[in-house]
Amino acid sequence: MNILIVGSGGREHALAWKMAQSHHCDNLFIAPGNPGTASIGTNVNIQVNDFEGLKKVALENAIDLIVVGPEDPLVNGIYDYFLNDETTTHINVIAPSAAAAQLEGSKAFSKHFMQRHSIPTASYAEFTKENYADGVDYIKSHGLPIVLKADGLAAGKGVIIAFTHQEAIASFEDMIQNKQFGEASSKVVIEQFLEGIEVSVFALTDGQSYQIIGHAKDYKRIGEGDTGLNTGGMGCVSPVPFMDETFMKKVEARIIKPTIQGIQSENLVYKGFVFFGLMNCGGEPYVIEYNCRLGDPETEVILPRLQTDLVSLLAAADNGTLEDVNIEYNSGAFATVMAVSGGYPGNYKKDFVIAGLAATNNVPGVIVFQAGTGFQDNDIVTKGGRVLTATAQGSTLKEAVKTAQNALSNIQFEGMYFRSDIGYEFES
Ligand code: AMP
Ligand code: GLY
Repeated sequence: MNILIVGSGGREHALAWKMAQSHHCDNLFIAPGNPGTASIGTNVNIQVNDFEGLKKVALENAIDLIVVGPEDPLVNGIYDYFLNDETTTHINVIAPSAAAAQLEGSKAFSKHFMQRHSIPTASYAEFTKENYADGVDYIKSHGLPIVLKADGLAAGKGVIIAFTHQEAIASFEDMIQNKQFGEASSKVVIEQFLEGIEVSVFALTDGQSYQIIGHAKDYKRIGEGDTGLNTGGMGCVSPVPFMDETFMKKVEARIIKPTIQGIQSENLVYKGFVFFGLMNCGGEPYVIEYNCRLGDPETEVILPRLQTDLVSLLAAADNGTLEDVNIEYNSGAFATVMAVSGGYPGNYKKDFVIAGLAATNNVPGVIVFQAGTGFQDNDIVTKGGRVLTATAQGSTLKEAVKTAQNALSNIQFEGMYFRSDIGYEFES
Protein backbone atom coordinates (compact mmCIF):
# COMPACT_ATOMS: atom_id res chain seq x y z
CA MET A 1 0.00 0.00 0.00
CA ASN A 2 1.20 3.52 -0.73
CA ILE A 3 0.52 5.86 2.14
CA LEU A 4 0.42 9.63 2.53
CA ILE A 5 0.51 11.26 5.96
CA VAL A 6 -0.62 14.89 6.15
CA GLY A 7 1.11 17.08 8.75
CA SER A 8 4.53 17.96 10.09
CA GLY A 9 4.68 17.50 13.85
CA GLY A 10 5.63 14.90 16.42
CA ARG A 11 2.26 13.21 15.89
CA GLU A 12 2.98 12.75 12.20
CA HIS A 13 6.51 11.50 12.91
CA ALA A 14 4.99 8.91 15.27
CA LEU A 15 2.39 7.94 12.63
CA ALA A 16 5.17 7.52 10.05
CA TRP A 17 7.26 5.46 12.49
CA LYS A 18 4.33 3.16 13.26
CA MET A 19 3.03 2.77 9.71
CA ALA A 20 6.49 2.09 8.27
CA GLN A 21 6.63 -1.03 10.47
CA SER A 22 3.66 -2.57 8.71
CA HIS A 23 4.33 -5.12 6.00
CA HIS A 24 1.38 -3.54 4.17
CA CYS A 25 3.35 -0.30 3.77
CA ASP A 26 5.15 -0.10 0.41
CA ASN A 27 5.88 3.60 -0.01
CA LEU A 28 5.39 6.28 2.58
CA PHE A 29 5.05 10.01 1.89
CA ILE A 30 4.62 12.85 4.36
CA ALA A 31 3.29 16.29 3.42
CA PRO A 32 5.07 18.44 4.40
CA GLY A 33 6.79 16.36 7.13
CA ASN A 34 9.94 17.27 9.05
CA PRO A 35 13.54 15.97 9.23
CA GLY A 36 12.32 13.14 11.46
CA THR A 37 9.80 11.87 8.91
CA ALA A 38 12.40 12.32 6.14
CA SER A 39 14.43 9.53 7.75
CA ILE A 40 11.47 7.14 7.40
CA GLY A 41 9.69 8.13 4.20
CA THR A 42 9.66 10.80 1.51
CA ASN A 43 8.72 14.34 2.47
CA VAL A 44 6.76 16.29 -0.13
CA ASN A 45 6.65 20.05 0.17
CA ILE A 46 2.87 20.53 0.17
CA GLN A 47 1.04 22.32 2.97
CA VAL A 48 -1.80 20.61 4.84
CA ASN A 49 -4.61 22.82 3.48
CA ASP A 50 -3.44 22.66 -0.15
CA PHE A 51 -5.94 19.98 -1.22
CA GLU A 52 -5.12 20.39 -4.90
CA GLY A 53 -1.43 19.88 -4.18
CA LEU A 54 -2.20 16.84 -2.02
CA LYS A 55 -4.39 15.38 -4.78
CA LYS A 56 -1.54 15.78 -7.27
CA VAL A 57 0.87 13.98 -4.91
CA ALA A 58 -1.70 11.25 -4.31
CA LEU A 59 -2.26 10.62 -8.00
CA GLU A 60 1.42 10.79 -8.97
CA ASN A 61 2.33 8.23 -6.31
CA ALA A 62 -0.71 5.93 -6.58
CA ILE A 63 -1.60 6.59 -2.95
CA ASP A 64 -4.10 4.12 -1.43
CA LEU A 65 -4.38 5.52 2.08
CA ILE A 66 -4.23 9.06 3.45
CA VAL A 67 -3.96 9.76 7.17
CA VAL A 68 -4.60 13.33 8.24
CA GLY A 69 -2.87 14.61 11.38
CA PRO A 70 -4.02 18.17 12.19
CA GLU A 71 -7.55 19.54 12.57
CA ASP A 72 -7.53 22.35 10.00
CA PRO A 73 -7.75 20.21 6.86
CA LEU A 74 -10.40 18.04 8.55
CA VAL A 75 -12.65 20.99 9.33
CA ASN A 76 -11.90 22.39 5.85
CA GLY A 77 -13.32 19.24 4.24
CA ILE A 78 -10.37 17.15 3.06
CA TYR A 79 -12.50 13.99 3.30
CA ASP A 80 -15.25 15.41 1.06
CA TYR A 81 -12.69 16.82 -1.38
CA PHE A 82 -11.16 13.41 -2.10
CA LEU A 83 -14.52 11.60 -2.01
CA ASN A 84 -16.21 13.93 -4.48
CA ASP A 85 -13.45 13.83 -7.09
CA GLU A 86 -13.79 10.76 -9.30
CA THR A 87 -10.01 10.47 -9.70
CA THR A 88 -9.46 10.20 -5.93
CA THR A 89 -12.70 8.70 -4.62
CA HIS A 90 -11.09 5.23 -4.32
CA ILE A 91 -8.49 6.48 -1.81
CA ASN A 92 -9.06 5.51 1.82
CA VAL A 93 -8.93 8.92 3.51
CA ILE A 94 -8.89 8.55 7.29
CA ALA A 95 -10.88 11.63 8.27
CA PRO A 96 -14.41 12.64 9.19
CA SER A 97 -16.53 14.53 6.63
CA ALA A 98 -16.55 18.31 7.14
CA ALA A 99 -20.05 17.96 8.63
CA ALA A 100 -18.83 15.46 11.24
CA ALA A 101 -15.63 17.45 11.91
CA GLN A 102 -17.89 20.11 13.40
CA LEU A 103 -17.58 18.01 16.54
CA GLU A 104 -14.16 19.63 16.83
CA GLY A 105 -14.69 22.72 14.65
CA SER A 106 -17.61 24.15 16.64
CA LYS A 107 -17.85 23.97 20.42
CA ALA A 108 -21.56 24.87 20.19
CA PHE A 109 -22.18 22.01 17.71
CA SER A 110 -20.44 19.51 19.97
CA LYS A 111 -22.32 20.73 23.07
CA HIS A 112 -25.67 20.38 21.24
CA PHE A 113 -24.63 16.93 20.05
CA MET A 114 -23.78 15.82 23.60
CA GLN A 115 -27.05 17.23 24.86
CA ARG A 116 -29.06 15.39 22.18
CA HIS A 117 -27.38 12.12 23.13
CA SER A 118 -27.31 12.60 26.91
CA ILE A 119 -23.52 12.47 27.06
CA PRO A 120 -22.14 13.88 30.32
CA THR A 121 -20.48 17.28 29.88
CA ALA A 122 -20.33 20.63 31.71
CA SER A 123 -23.59 22.64 31.67
CA TYR A 124 -23.39 25.59 29.29
CA ALA A 125 -25.00 28.41 27.34
CA GLU A 126 -23.96 30.06 24.08
CA PHE A 127 -23.92 33.71 23.11
CA THR A 128 -23.24 35.97 20.11
CA LYS A 129 -23.26 39.74 19.53
CA GLU A 130 -27.08 39.57 19.34
CA ASN A 131 -27.55 38.43 22.94
CA TYR A 132 -24.35 39.91 24.37
CA ALA A 133 -26.13 41.56 27.33
CA ASP A 134 -27.71 38.21 28.29
CA GLY A 135 -24.20 36.72 28.24
CA VAL A 136 -22.94 39.36 30.67
CA ASP A 137 -25.90 38.63 32.99
CA TYR A 138 -25.25 34.90 32.65
CA ILE A 139 -21.63 35.37 33.71
CA LYS A 140 -22.59 37.60 36.68
CA SER A 141 -25.00 35.01 38.05
CA HIS A 142 -22.69 32.03 37.45
CA GLY A 143 -20.42 30.44 40.05
CA LEU A 144 -16.62 30.63 39.78
CA PRO A 145 -14.38 29.67 38.15
CA ILE A 146 -16.18 29.93 34.82
CA VAL A 147 -15.01 28.70 31.40
CA LEU A 148 -15.32 30.70 28.16
CA LYS A 149 -14.72 29.03 24.81
CA ALA A 150 -14.49 30.55 21.36
CA ASP A 151 -16.87 28.46 19.22
CA GLY A 152 -14.46 27.86 16.33
CA LEU A 153 -10.87 26.69 15.93
CA ALA A 154 -8.45 29.06 17.65
CA ALA A 155 -5.17 27.09 17.49
CA GLY A 156 -5.64 25.79 21.03
CA LYS A 157 -5.91 29.30 22.49
CA GLY A 158 -9.68 29.80 22.52
CA VAL A 159 -10.39 28.62 26.08
CA ILE A 160 -10.31 31.02 29.03
CA ILE A 161 -10.76 29.89 32.62
CA ALA A 162 -11.75 32.97 34.60
CA PHE A 163 -11.52 33.16 38.38
CA THR A 164 -13.41 36.44 38.79
CA HIS A 165 -16.57 37.75 37.13
CA GLN A 166 -14.67 40.84 36.04
CA GLU A 167 -12.04 38.76 34.25
CA ALA A 168 -14.75 36.65 32.62
CA ILE A 169 -16.66 39.69 31.35
CA ALA A 170 -13.44 41.25 30.01
CA SER A 171 -12.61 38.03 28.12
CA PHE A 172 -16.19 37.78 26.86
CA GLU A 173 -15.98 41.35 25.55
CA ASP A 174 -12.63 40.64 23.89
CA MET A 175 -13.99 37.56 22.16
CA ILE A 176 -17.34 38.93 20.97
CA GLN A 177 -16.90 42.69 20.59
CA ASN A 178 -13.17 42.86 19.79
CA LYS A 179 -13.15 39.66 17.70
CA GLN A 180 -10.11 38.38 19.60
CA PHE A 181 -10.15 35.13 17.63
CA GLY A 182 -11.80 36.55 14.50
CA GLU A 183 -14.83 34.61 13.25
CA ALA A 184 -13.98 31.78 15.68
CA SER A 185 -15.13 33.92 18.62
CA SER A 186 -18.24 35.45 17.03
CA LYS A 187 -20.01 32.80 19.10
CA VAL A 188 -18.89 31.94 22.64
CA VAL A 189 -19.79 28.93 24.75
CA ILE A 190 -19.80 29.65 28.49
CA GLU A 191 -19.65 26.62 30.70
CA GLN A 192 -19.32 25.25 34.17
CA PHE A 193 -15.79 24.54 35.41
CA LEU A 194 -15.17 20.83 35.94
CA GLU A 195 -12.85 19.94 38.77
CA GLY A 196 -10.88 16.76 38.19
CA ILE A 197 -8.05 15.04 36.32
CA GLU A 198 -7.92 15.16 32.53
CA VAL A 199 -7.35 12.14 30.35
CA SER A 200 -7.46 11.64 26.58
CA VAL A 201 -9.06 8.52 25.11
CA PHE A 202 -8.66 7.60 21.45
CA ALA A 203 -10.93 5.52 19.26
CA LEU A 204 -11.02 4.70 15.57
CA THR A 205 -14.47 4.56 14.01
CA ASP A 206 -16.04 3.87 10.64
CA GLY A 207 -19.16 5.68 11.77
CA GLN A 208 -20.81 2.47 12.97
CA SER A 209 -18.41 0.45 15.02
CA TYR A 210 -15.26 1.51 16.83
CA GLN A 211 -12.11 0.28 18.50
CA ILE A 212 -10.37 1.98 21.40
CA ILE A 213 -6.71 2.30 20.42
CA GLY A 214 -5.28 3.87 23.56
CA HIS A 215 -5.40 6.58 26.15
CA ALA A 216 -2.95 9.00 27.75
CA LYS A 217 -2.58 11.78 30.24
CA ASP A 218 -1.21 14.97 28.73
CA TYR A 219 0.69 17.54 30.85
CA LYS A 220 -0.36 20.87 29.35
CA ARG A 221 1.22 23.50 31.57
CA ILE A 222 4.72 24.82 30.91
CA GLY A 223 5.87 24.66 34.54
CA GLU A 224 6.60 21.87 36.97
CA GLY A 225 3.68 20.85 39.18
CA ASP A 226 1.23 21.94 36.44
CA THR A 227 1.89 25.67 36.82
CA GLY A 228 2.23 28.51 34.34
CA LEU A 229 0.82 28.95 30.86
CA ASN A 230 -0.95 26.33 28.79
CA THR A 231 1.04 24.74 25.98
CA GLY A 232 0.28 22.25 23.22
CA GLY A 233 1.43 19.53 25.62
CA MET A 234 4.71 19.01 27.51
CA GLY A 235 4.62 15.25 27.92
CA CYS A 236 2.34 12.24 28.30
CA VAL A 237 2.08 8.94 30.08
CA SER A 238 0.20 5.80 29.06
CA PRO A 239 -1.42 3.74 30.46
CA VAL A 240 -2.87 6.03 33.15
CA PRO A 241 -3.19 4.30 36.54
CA PHE A 242 -6.76 5.48 37.26
CA MET A 243 -8.01 4.19 33.90
CA ASP A 244 -8.99 0.90 35.48
CA GLU A 245 -11.74 -1.41 34.30
CA THR A 246 -14.46 0.28 36.35
CA PHE A 247 -13.66 3.74 35.00
CA MET A 248 -13.17 2.52 31.41
CA LYS A 249 -16.56 0.76 31.54
CA LYS A 250 -18.20 4.06 32.49
CA VAL A 251 -16.33 5.87 29.70
CA GLU A 252 -17.44 3.32 27.15
CA ALA A 253 -21.06 3.04 28.27
CA ARG A 254 -21.76 6.73 28.93
CA ILE A 255 -19.51 8.43 26.39
CA ILE A 256 -17.97 6.35 23.61
CA LYS A 257 -20.99 4.18 22.70
CA PRO A 258 -23.52 7.07 22.73
CA THR A 259 -21.11 9.20 20.67
CA ILE A 260 -20.71 6.58 17.95
CA GLN A 261 -24.46 5.83 18.01
CA GLY A 262 -25.10 9.58 17.74
CA ILE A 263 -22.78 9.88 14.75
CA GLN A 264 -24.62 6.99 13.12
CA SER A 265 -28.16 8.13 13.93
CA GLU A 266 -27.43 11.65 12.66
CA ASN A 267 -25.96 10.24 9.43
CA LEU A 268 -22.64 11.96 10.01
CA VAL A 269 -20.04 10.41 7.71
CA TYR A 270 -17.05 9.61 9.87
CA LYS A 271 -14.10 7.36 9.15
CA GLY A 272 -11.33 8.39 11.44
CA PHE A 273 -10.00 8.97 14.90
CA VAL A 274 -12.11 10.32 17.74
CA PHE A 275 -10.23 12.00 20.56
CA PHE A 276 -12.33 12.15 23.71
CA GLY A 277 -10.93 14.87 25.97
CA LEU A 278 -12.30 13.75 29.34
CA MET A 279 -12.35 14.96 32.91
CA ASN A 280 -12.37 12.36 35.68
CA CYS A 281 -14.48 14.09 38.32
CA GLY A 282 -14.22 11.91 41.42
CA GLY A 283 -14.52 8.71 39.39
CA GLU A 284 -17.22 10.00 36.99
CA PRO A 285 -16.20 10.80 33.39
CA TYR A 286 -17.30 14.01 31.62
CA VAL A 287 -16.47 15.19 28.10
CA ILE A 288 -14.49 18.42 27.95
CA GLU A 289 -14.17 18.32 24.19
CA TYR A 290 -14.12 16.14 21.11
CA ASN A 291 -11.30 16.29 18.62
CA CYS A 292 -11.52 14.51 15.28
CA ARG A 293 -7.86 13.54 15.17
CA LEU A 294 -5.09 12.08 17.23
CA GLY A 295 -3.53 14.23 19.97
CA ASP A 296 -0.04 15.63 20.09
CA PRO A 297 1.95 14.49 22.11
CA GLU A 298 -0.54 11.71 23.01
CA THR A 299 0.18 9.95 19.70
CA GLU A 300 3.84 9.74 20.66
CA VAL A 301 2.93 7.39 23.54
CA ILE A 302 -0.19 5.61 22.29
CA LEU A 303 1.34 4.40 19.02
CA PRO A 304 4.50 2.97 20.63
CA ARG A 305 2.19 1.20 23.12
CA LEU A 306 -0.13 -0.15 20.42
CA GLN A 307 0.99 -3.54 19.20
CA THR A 308 -1.71 -3.97 16.54
CA ASP A 309 -0.70 -3.12 12.97
CA LEU A 310 -2.01 0.40 12.32
CA VAL A 311 -2.20 0.03 8.54
CA SER A 312 -4.41 -3.09 8.86
CA LEU A 313 -6.54 -1.23 11.37
CA LEU A 314 -7.05 1.71 9.00
CA ALA A 315 -7.86 -0.68 6.16
CA ALA A 316 -10.46 -2.35 8.41
CA ALA A 317 -12.07 1.05 9.04
CA ASP A 318 -12.52 1.32 5.27
CA ASN A 319 -13.83 -2.14 4.48
CA GLY A 320 -16.33 -2.67 7.27
CA THR A 321 -14.28 -5.12 9.34
CA LEU A 322 -13.26 -2.83 12.18
CA GLU A 323 -15.28 -4.88 14.64
CA ASP A 324 -13.20 -7.99 13.92
CA VAL A 325 -9.83 -6.41 14.70
CA ASN A 326 -8.02 -7.47 17.83
CA ILE A 327 -6.43 -4.54 19.65
CA GLU A 328 -3.28 -5.50 21.49
CA TYR A 329 -0.90 -3.41 23.54
CA ASN A 330 2.78 -3.78 24.29
CA SER A 331 3.44 -4.49 27.94
CA GLY A 332 4.83 -1.98 30.39
CA ALA A 333 4.44 1.76 30.67
CA PHE A 334 5.17 4.51 28.16
CA ALA A 335 6.12 8.13 28.66
CA THR A 336 7.06 10.96 26.36
CA VAL A 337 8.82 14.15 27.47
CA MET A 338 8.72 17.19 25.20
CA ALA A 339 11.72 19.48 24.74
CA VAL A 340 10.71 23.03 23.86
CA SER A 341 12.37 26.27 22.81
CA GLY A 342 13.31 28.74 25.56
CA GLY A 343 10.45 31.24 26.00
CA TYR A 344 7.72 28.91 24.67
CA PRO A 345 4.67 29.22 24.84
CA GLY A 346 5.52 32.92 24.63
CA ASN A 347 8.03 34.33 22.14
CA TYR A 348 11.01 32.16 21.32
CA LYS A 349 13.91 32.15 18.88
CA LYS A 350 14.41 29.54 16.15
CA ASP A 351 17.20 28.10 13.99
CA PHE A 352 19.38 26.75 16.79
CA VAL A 353 21.39 23.67 15.86
CA ILE A 354 20.24 20.49 17.63
CA ALA A 355 23.14 18.31 18.81
CA GLY A 356 23.09 14.71 20.01
CA LEU A 357 20.13 13.47 17.95
CA ALA A 358 21.89 10.64 16.17
CA ALA A 359 23.36 9.15 19.36
CA THR A 360 20.01 9.36 21.16
CA ASN A 361 18.23 7.60 18.32
CA ASN A 362 20.35 4.55 19.11
CA VAL A 363 19.49 4.28 22.81
CA PRO A 364 17.51 1.03 23.29
CA GLY A 365 13.89 1.53 24.38
CA VAL A 366 13.90 5.20 23.35
CA ILE A 367 12.42 6.87 20.28
CA VAL A 368 12.93 10.53 19.51
CA PHE A 369 10.05 12.08 17.59
CA GLN A 370 10.74 15.41 15.94
CA ALA A 371 8.14 18.17 15.96
CA GLY A 372 9.34 21.73 15.31
CA THR A 373 12.57 20.95 13.45
CA GLY A 374 13.97 21.75 10.03
CA PHE A 375 17.03 21.25 7.87
CA GLN A 376 19.64 23.97 7.58
CA ASP A 377 22.71 23.12 5.52
CA ASN A 378 23.82 19.80 7.02
CA ASP A 379 22.22 20.38 10.41
CA ILE A 380 18.86 19.83 11.99
CA VAL A 381 17.73 23.06 13.65
CA THR A 382 14.84 24.24 15.82
CA LYS A 383 11.85 25.60 13.90
CA GLY A 384 9.05 25.69 16.45
CA GLY A 385 8.05 25.94 20.10
CA ARG A 386 7.73 22.22 20.70
CA VAL A 387 10.92 20.90 19.14
CA LEU A 388 11.13 17.17 19.80
CA THR A 389 9.95 14.56 22.24
CA ALA A 390 11.63 11.46 23.68
CA THR A 391 9.38 8.44 24.20
CA ALA A 392 10.49 5.55 26.37
CA GLN A 393 9.13 2.26 27.61
CA GLY A 394 9.68 1.04 31.16
CA SER A 395 8.38 -1.58 33.52
CA THR A 396 6.79 1.28 35.50
CA LEU A 397 5.73 4.83 34.58
CA LYS A 398 8.52 6.23 36.75
CA GLU A 399 11.09 4.16 34.91
CA ALA A 400 9.70 5.15 31.50
CA VAL A 401 9.79 8.85 32.42
CA LYS A 402 13.34 8.56 33.77
CA THR A 403 14.56 6.84 30.61
CA ALA A 404 12.93 9.51 28.42
CA GLN A 405 14.51 12.28 30.49
CA ASN A 406 17.93 10.64 30.39
CA ALA A 407 17.61 10.45 26.61
CA LEU A 408 16.85 14.17 26.44
CA SER A 409 19.89 14.99 28.52
CA ASN A 410 21.99 13.78 25.57
CA ILE A 411 20.37 16.31 23.26
CA GLN A 412 21.26 19.98 23.28
CA PHE A 413 20.06 23.16 21.64
CA GLU A 414 20.22 26.72 22.91
CA GLY A 415 17.38 27.48 25.33
CA MET A 416 16.18 23.86 25.48
CA TYR A 417 13.70 23.22 28.30
CA PHE A 418 11.67 20.22 29.39
CA ARG A 419 9.58 19.35 32.43
CA SER A 420 11.27 16.92 34.77
CA ASP A 421 8.05 15.98 36.60
CA ILE A 422 5.94 14.25 33.94
CA GLY A 423 3.83 11.58 35.70
CA TYR A 424 4.67 13.13 39.09
CA GLU A 425 1.35 12.29 40.73
CA PHE A 426 1.63 8.57 40.12
CA GLU A 427 3.41 6.43 42.68
CA SER A 428 5.21 3.96 40.47
P1 AMP B 1 -9.98 22.75 24.96
O1 AMP B 1 -9.47 23.77 23.99
O2 AMP B 1 -11.46 22.53 24.91
O3 AMP B 1 -9.12 21.54 24.97
O4 AMP B 1 -9.71 23.34 26.41
C1 AMP B 1 -8.40 23.61 26.83
C2 AMP B 1 -8.23 23.20 28.25
O5 AMP B 1 -9.07 23.96 29.09
C3 AMP B 1 -8.65 21.76 28.52
O6 AMP B 1 -7.66 20.86 28.19
C4 AMP B 1 -8.91 21.83 30.01
O7 AMP B 1 -7.70 21.77 30.71
C5 AMP B 1 -9.50 23.19 30.18
N1 AMP B 1 -10.96 23.13 30.19
C6 AMP B 1 -11.80 23.22 29.14
N2 AMP B 1 -13.08 23.14 29.53
C7 AMP B 1 -13.07 22.99 30.87
C8 AMP B 1 -14.08 22.84 31.86
N3 AMP B 1 -15.37 22.88 31.55
N4 AMP B 1 -13.68 22.70 33.14
C9 AMP B 1 -12.37 22.69 33.48
N5 AMP B 1 -11.39 22.83 32.60
C10 AMP B 1 -11.71 22.97 31.30
N1 GLY C 1 -2.46 17.34 23.30
C1 GLY C 1 -3.72 17.91 23.05
C2 GLY C 1 -4.11 18.00 21.65
O1 GLY C 1 -3.54 17.42 20.76
O2 GLY C 1 -5.10 18.70 21.38
